[in-house]
Amino acid sequence: MSKTNNIKTIILAAGKGTRMKSSTPKVLHKVFSKTLLERVINSVIKANAADEIFCIVGHQAETVSDFVENTYQNSNITSILQQPQLGTGDAVFKAYDRLKGFKGNILVLCGDTPLLTAETIEKFITYHNESKSVLTVMSAKFDNPKGYGRIIRTENGDVSGIIEEKDATSEQKLINEVNAGVYCFDWEKVSPAFFELTTNNEQGEYYLTDIVSWSVKNNFKVQGYILEDNKEMFGVNSKADLAAATTILKDKTNNYLMTEGVTLIDPASTWISPETTIGRDTVIYPGCYIDGENNIAEDCEIGPNSYFCGNVKIEKNVKIIQSKISDSSIGENSQIGPFAHLRQNVNVANDVRIGNFVEVKNSNISNNTNAAHLAYVGDAEVGQQVNIGAGTITANYDPITKIKSKTIIEDGVKIGSNSVLIAPVKLGKKSAVAAGSVITKEVSEGSLAIGRSPQKAVEGWVEKKICTVQKNEII
Ligand code: UD1
Ligand code: CA
Repeated sequence: MSKTNNIKTIILAAGKGTRMKSSTPKVLHKVFSKTLLERVINSVIKANAADEIFCIVGHQAETVSDFVENTYQNSNITSILQQPQLGTGDAVFKAYDRLKGFKGNILVLCGDTPLLTAETIEKFITYHNESKSVLTVMSAKFDNPKGYGRIIRTENGDVSGIIEEKDATSEQKLINEVNAGVYCFDWEKVSPAFFELTTNNEQGEYYLTDIVSWSVKNNFKVQGYILEDNKEMFGVNSKADLAAATTILKDKTNNYLMTEGVTLIDPASTWISPETTIGRDTVIYPGCYIDGENNIAEDCEIGPNSYFCGNVKIEKNVKIIQSKISDSSIGENSQIGPFAHLRQNVNVANDVRIGNFVEVKNSNISNNTNAAHLAYVGDAEVGQQVNIGAGTITANYDPITKIKSKTIIEDGVKIGSNSVLIAPVKLGKKSAVAAGSVITKEVSEGSLAIGRSPQKAVEGWVEKKICTVQKNEII
């Protein structure tokens, strides 16, 4: 992407978000696994409009600024406090001191519009630069413009101002072009406006929107940039809006994936984060929720009903049925599930089978190994062509010392059903474990370990038992 020269960005995120009825600040609510604010910041960064970003915080300021600091370490994002919150105009004015002497453009966006794409931001800035405007405001057209500020244009079609719905006449309310809340302007020329804003309006606030009529009055060139897709300016003000924003993003992602050759059996019940990539001819069955950043290669089958929570890398031709996976990778031709759980750094190689009710945590599983039923494998190094019998448990955690230990299972090991491997422990190459064993010591290469009490036979026991029962009944 081209560099959008000399631009600083202000993101407004100080508002109360009363209608969310939540103890979490509005901009920290999530659309898929990314917060509203993160989605806005990421688009700004991707659009190369982030020489410097100022985040205006106010309501639960510390929570929001901590989030920004922790999420974007080593980046040029500063939080600025706006206390009290006297309106969007006052919010931008809070950055005034930091921008003294700045010669360049300022981009302003709201922290509650998570669907604005980097491509649109980039086009908007390019439009502003190429049209040599002093101020460009983003707008969109709606059949039902209710709730938004309306764009006022002159008879020639030039933008002359913005009127908030609460201040609009019934005639102005009929205008269907609305303010998206995104502006780009020449800081040097427009910044004096902030000293002239007033609170003469229905809400008694300093409106950022008034910089538009101020610029027109000062004979600066003002332009409107109408969004091609009005959904991009969707603002989240309530939990219902949050759900609607998620659905819009989901539909867009699903449509994109299908045009790229991914097969979705039922897009309506398929939720895939926009940060996930999927290869051609992979089939996603109904009921999947694939969140976070994932790479799924071609020719895979996922679902029905699988849940990914991020950082999942899947190679070609993998089948995953009814399973939960996070922070793991799976090699070619492997099969996972039904009802498997892979978490916290599991690396499964090629042609592996992790089957019914198997949980794997922080382990490496090499080629052609099977754990087909009812097992727990944690903190383990598992070699090739190993068979982990049904009911095998790695006892990796000592709840008294709180220490987690490793289990090493070398190539070709066969573990009988219902065995417990007490870590730290090593099973040498091509060794075997008898079913029902509790293994506490290293098993040497090629040997069989039996760690269970020997079976004994008590002859005639059943007959004797029956006689005793019958005698008792007679009495
Ligand atoms: C604002 C615009 C409206 C536009 C709409 C688009 C104004 C006066 N109105 O209305 O024309 O159609 O956005 O979504 O600008 N904020 C602060 N400090 C404050 C007040 C707000 O940082 O003192 C932040 C909020 O956290 C929010 C953003 O500014 O992220 C917009 O504020 P909000 O109250 O949601 O404005 P709208 O009524 O939606
Ligand atoms: Ca809003």
